[in-house]
Amino acid sequence: MDPAEERNWILQKLNIGKELLYLTLEDVIKTGVQIEDILALTRSALIAHGKKEYEMPAKIGVHPYAEVFYHAMPAYVPSENAVGLKWIECYPSNPSRFKLPQTTGLLALNDVESGCPLAIMDATWITAMRTPAVTVLAARALHPGAETFGMFGCGVQGIEHCRFVVHTLEKLKKIYVYDKSEEAMENLVNTVQPQIDIEIIRGKDPETVTKNCEVMSSATVILQEQLSVVRDEWVSSGQTILPCDLNTFWDPATARRADKYIVDSAEEHRLFAEMGYFPEGLPEITCETGEVLAGATPGREAPEELIVCSNIGMAVCDVVVGKEVFRRALEKEMGCILPL
Ligand SMILES: NC(=O)c1ccc[n+]([C@@H]2O[C@H](COP(=O)([O-])OP(=O)(O)OC[C@H]3O[C@@H](n4cnc5c(N)ncnc54)[C@H](O)[C@@H]3O)[C@@H](O)[C@H]2O)c1
Repeated sequence: MDPAEERNWILQKLNIGKELLYLTLEDVIKTGVQIEDILALTRSALIAHGKKEYEMPAKIGVHPYAEVFYHAMPAYVPSENAVGLKWIECYPSNPSRFKLPQTTGLLALNDVESGCPLAIMDATWITAMRTPAVTVLAARALHPGAETFGMFGCGVQGIEHCRFVVHTLEKLKKIYVYDKSEEAMENLVNTVQPQIDIEIIRGKDPETVTKNCEVMSSATVILQEQLSVVRDEWVSSGQTILPCDLNTFWDPATARRADKYIVDSAEEHRLFAEMGYFPEGLPEITCETGEVLAGATPGREAPEELIVCSNIGMAVCDVVVGKEVFRRALEKEMGCILPL
């Protein structure tokens, strides 16, 4: 929709400058945005990023404890008329200490024309959805013929990755999953298997999964320490590795020797490196994920290339998905309108 037209439509439902729409986690889910929508929206955001048609300064954050971060993630995507800020936290010990998710947060959206706040919404679901969307869109661009996918980490992200990957890897025959927690693996299989036709296999150990899969992703924990759970000698040429958890899970030697080290945001990765997240140094960056999706740089150029594509998460994706959630909520008269 044309931005002026969209603004007039919003004004019929919300008194911009005097009111904002508040959406709970349940509201956000009930707007009915589906996997196909998230894939299309995330793709647009990545392409805008790849064409450099965006504004998104690298995350700034605060760190009350070691291994904990809060990030302020602002972005403006002109093509989607979307501007806002995600305020997100990551507390790796939340599941064991409080039975709460590692990652929670809020997303604020603004009116591009006046700057006034339009909405505040829970960002947990948006984060849980746009992250696998980035992985599986990158997987299709870099390894479209893959028949096997491996997922390390069977929590919130692992579950969504398995639900999303069947939408982009058309030749997929098997999904291998691995988690250090048997319970998490069991829960993933019980949750996702009834929803997809592709067989999900519980990996015996990380080595078996690594040696059986063409494309792999990991969503475990983000730590400055290198866990190196997957040893470099298990990784072979021709594989595509798409970590969501930065450098933690994989032997750093793998990214260093990869033929291509692609990242969603070079600026973000450099910032994390400055904070100490790549103790052995940031590998040389080939290009950004959005540039591959936009066709500005080639993806895979030979079957034997080893490609690592690290996607740490970008606010351009959050504001674009959030804008659609906002539109649908207004359309369905969902959420709570609050005075400013
Ligand atoms: N890149 C992004 O955009 C993005 C977005 C959201 C979350 N994340 C990151 O993804 C990761 C997972 O998030 P989540 O919400 O799914 O968390 P979660 O707590 O729901 O799941 C994490 C799973 O990883 C498993 N795990 C932890 N260490 C492991 C190890 N050494 N070996 C095998 N399994 C291990 C845990 O048992 C757990 O089941 C976090 O690091 C989070 O910060 C990244």
